[in-house]
Amino acid sequence: MRVLLAGGAGYIGTHTAVALLESGHDVVLLDDLSGTHAIAAERVEKITGKPAPLVVGDAADDAVVAAVFDQYGPIDAIIHLAAFKAVGESTQKPLEYYSNNLDTTFALLRVGIARGIRSFVFSSTGTVYSDPADLPFTEESTTSIDLSNAYSKSKRMNEVVLADVARVNPDLNVTVLRYYNPVGAHPSGLIGEDPAGIPNNLMPFVSRVAIGSLDEIGVFGADYDTPDGTGLRDYIHVVDLAEGHVVALEQAQPGHQVFNLGTGRPVSVLELISSFEKAVGHDLPKKILDRRPGDVAATYCDPAKAAEVLGWRTRLEIDDACRDYWNWQTRNPAGYATPADAGVRPA
Ligand code: UD1
Repeated sequence: MRVLLAGGAGYIGTHTAVALLESGHDVVLLDDLSGTHAIAAERVEKITGKPAPLVVGDAADDAVVAAVFDQYGPIDAIIHLAAFKAVGESTQKPLEYYSNNLDTTFALLRVGIARGIRSFVFSSTGTVYSDPADLPFTEESTTSIDLSNAYSKSKRMNEVVLADVARVNPDLNVTVLRYYNPVGAHPSGLIGEDPAGIPNNLMPFVSRVAIGSLDEIGVFGADYDTPDGTGLRDYIHVVDLAEGHVVALEQAQPGHQVFNLGTGRPVSVLELISSFEKAVGHDLPKKILDRRPGDVAATYCDPAKAAEVLGWRTRLEIDDACRDYWNWQTRNPAGYATPADAGVRPA
């Protein structure tokens, strides 16, 4: 299969490109590089020894998407990962988030359907589930559009659009993947997460403290109704997540399907920090802060449907994710901007 990965040079895109190439598929990456670097695509080629051509452009522009099909077609499938994803920023810039996160879907669908794609895989989020009483969340759990931020709402809006588009395109396979918290990095240390500025998410923040570019981990609340008082999340290794995309594509059926991609095993903030400390080899400075507004005590999924229908299961644990994230961080202390001869740890 030849697959267009929109947002293909990003954190999940690069890992998915590697997984697709290693499964014998061809890829084309389309990315505007607003959240990543062109070198990420070169690293995909370095890991796999296969071509991962990168088109730099806006997936919300029909002409750009059409040009990708002209140059690299026929293309069988699109995996849509091109989105703005900073939750806090989305509350300040709703119009930008709704525009970008929906216009990309519209352009990719318009052009893709006109050019005869068979499958469309969409990157959604487990935050579309709204009722904590449903934990662990299954695909049947209650979803809402009335979510706390424009990022999550834009994802749910996309899901609504995709269900309607699938209904009138009965030959098209539409698969919605609801991700839990992606963490870790490829074990090569060549690709990984590279957030700009101060990270919002836990693992990149912990890693920056470990590498010395931030002083101290702030634990957002230790008074939740959870075993150690800190928040519980379903952290999924990005390599497992990437493999979820490959099987979702290979086993896609006509119609509209939704899968949770998570481990089903909740991990607390303190457990994640302790696992990262194990990877680093020493304790890290941390202090308990107030709860972060908008956070929930616990969110994790039941991944049984993906196991039953796709035969997909996570293989990696939080310790693997911390080890691999730390390996990526130490080899690339400044992410993709790290000079080739600086700060690289001997293999
Ligand atoms: C966030 C987003 C979610 C997105 C996901 C991607 C929100 C409300 N949700 O989820 O939409 O899909 O990232 O991974 O932002 N924590 C700390 N200290 C920190 C950072 C986080 O204690 O410096 C805690 C949080 O309170 C939470 C856990 O760590 O309990 C995970 O936080 P984070 O990595 O930001 O992810 P989520 O909030 O679950």
